[in-house]
Amino acid sequence: MGYQASYRASIDDPATFWAEAAQGIDWYQPWQRVLDERNAPFYRWFTGASLNTCYNAVDRHVTNGRGAQAALIYDSPVTGTQRTFSYAELLDEVARLAGVLRGLGVGQGDRVLIYMPMVPEAVFAMLACARIGAVHSVVFGGFAAKELATRIDDATPKLILSASCGIEVNRVIPYKPLLDDAIAQAQHKPAQTLILQRAQAEATLQPGRDLDWQGALAQAEPVACVPVAATDPLYILYTSGTTGLPKGVVRDNGGHAVAMHWSMRHVYGMQPGEVYWAASDIGWVVGHSYIVYGPLLNGNTTLLYEGKPVGTPDPGAFWRVIAEHKVAVLFTAPTAFRAIKKEDPQGDYLKRYDISSLRALFLAGERCDPDTLAWAEQLLQVPVVDHWWQTETAWAIAANCLGIEPLPVKAGSPTCAVPGYQVEVLDDAGAPVPDGSIGRIMLKLPLPPGCLPTLWQDDQRFVDAYLSAQPGYYLTGDAGYRDADGYLWVMSRIDDIINVAGHRLSTGAIEEVIASHPAVAECAVIGVADALKGELPIGLIVTKSGVELPPEQIVAETIQLVRDKIGAFCVYKHASVVARLPKTRSGKVLRGTMKKIADGQAYQVPATIDDAAALGEIGAALGAMGYGLPDE
Ligand code: COA
Ligand code: AMP
Repeated sequence: MGYQASYRASIDDPATFWAEAAQGIDWYQPWQRVLDERNAPFYRWFTGASLNTCYNAVDRHVTNGRGAQAALIYDSPVTGTQRTFSYAELLDEVARLAGVLRGLGVGQGDRVLIYMPMVPEAVFAMLACARIGAVHSVVFGGFAAKELATRIDDATPKLILSASCGIEVNRVIPYKPLLDDAIAQAQHKPAQTLILQRAQAEATLQPGRDLDWQGALAQAEPVACVPVAATDPLYILYTSGTTGLPKGVVRDNGGHAVAMHWSMRHVYGMQPGEVYWAASDIGWVVGHSYIVYGPLLNGNTTLLYEGKPVGTPDPGAFWRVIAEHKVAVLFTAPTAFRAIKKEDPQGDYLKRYDISSLRALFLAGERCDPDTLAWAEQLLQVPVVDHWWQTETAWAIAANCLGIEPLPVKAGSPTCAVPGYQVEVLDDAGAPVPDGSIGRIMLKLPLPPGCLPTLWQDDQRFVDAYLSAQPGYYLTGDAGYRDADGYLWVMSRIDDIINVAGHRLSTGAIEEVIASHPAVAECAVIGVADALKGELPIGLIVTKSGVELPPEQIVAETIQLVRDKIGAFCVYKHASVVARLPKTRSGKVLRGTMKKIADGQAYQVPATIDDAAALGEIGAALGAMGYGLPDE
């Protein structure tokens, strides 16, 4: 079946389409309804069915003869370690860790928070939770204590799994002090933590609360998979909202397993047994979907890479990994390729390796600029696919589905809607815009399997944030257009979300942290274009009257505050103290106009501006920081 036929089948008769896709998953009990519309707009998939995601990702491959095949390859240039786990070994690790969790009183539906670096035990932990029906919530290791505390309070985990440290290139980052601080800040106090000691920095354990991972594992008995309802939550993954309070995206078991398995075959064109590498972090959705669940559900070998595209040790790192492990498909963020291009523009490092195993490169996390796409295509001589999705969906909304029918590439576009997604571009009144006109990109309900059914314990916020802009539609938060050939062009966000090196950040959340500085009266954070990281946040700060601290000190202190409260991965390094912020007469800060000035783009002074001179002052401040044109 070609792309058009597959797409039409998925929209005309979703129940038949997804029931067929569900044959790729082993179920304990069949479903009563494929698509359950009884409680719309809270649609559910595969109601009545039961399964276990860990069984499908691990056990069944051992039963079906893949026991000796590599399931997980851990490649860690930062520690100089490589380890391979066969499916049989993975099963043993996961079943025993599940035994530890069970022994600590973790049961079905209990939350377990995982705050870990890119080590195999983090993957075992996710699967062990799935095995016993516990709900994991992985928090990216780069988050600071306050962000971790917020997530502890929202997910109220019974247990936290962590490690003594992470490693950033050659810098050891102790995790335990961050974890201790987070637990101290949180209202909810988990009874127990399980700490993996790494040789680079041993953690001090608090007797009675902190347990040693290896010690606990040595005494554990393996436990079997428990059947869970298809609609039961598998995990919660927090993502940036428009306020400092992150959104707890919920993932179910059944729809997710079906979508992951289907996407591995049809989006990425992966056959069981092949090696798949998502160079991301398990703390992000790409890591959940395509380091852990997708490849394992499909019987692939997945790669867990603890390193960077450059600096570990050089810009040939990706080519080494592809060559050594015979990677068939690589998935990463465009920023990683820009980083490699910056250090090795001619691709000289590639000449040292045989990467003939590589069939395709997939990019996501931010729009892939045509220059990066062309550079990657020319260098690798394989299809390069930009595909568009978000934490909420768990898998691609628009892509060139290599496993169905490769379509002609248009640089700058993530190609067409993936089967299952009804993508429409609407104006503010909810009417479809003509082809080629920019509008809000919306998804007509129901969303396909795998997408979020709700936010963790907050149905109302789910409705308010995503479903209320236009009844019957899901608001993606992205703006763009569709061209006459049906290709989508995803150009910008309509909210205050920015993308820094493929990491999703809320400028509102950064503003909240800056505003907590006692000298700050108000501030605005805008995402400015950056050649390497896509966007960078910069701050414009107005101090309270009477403040006598030098502006440089306020700038330095607020930069440190953002590092301490959110994390260094925000890359918030530039700010300026200004006399006032440009606003409309109703008091709305003109962030969009400031961004245009910073990016050196043409802009119009809004008719509703309160004080036009303020814009000129902002232009000068941005110019002094090296952005835009100072005299605009
Ligand atoms: N724990 C602690 N700190 C972390 C961290 C983690 N897990 N991840 C990043 N940081 C810190 C870095 O050490 C750095 O700190 P510094 O300001 O003290 O130097 C800061 O956050 C910024 O990190 P990063 O964005 O990784 O910048 P970089 O300059 O080290 O590397 C890239 C640039 C492009 C190579 C890197 O951003 C990258 O690999 N991006 C791909 C991202 C990705 O895969 N996203 C997932 C979507 S697919
Ligand atoms: P995240 O939830 O972190 O995956 O971020 C999702 C957001 O990143 C999307 O809503 C888009 O704004 C942006 N994004 C991700 N992939 C792409 C892409 N291929 N093209 C354009 N924007 C993208």
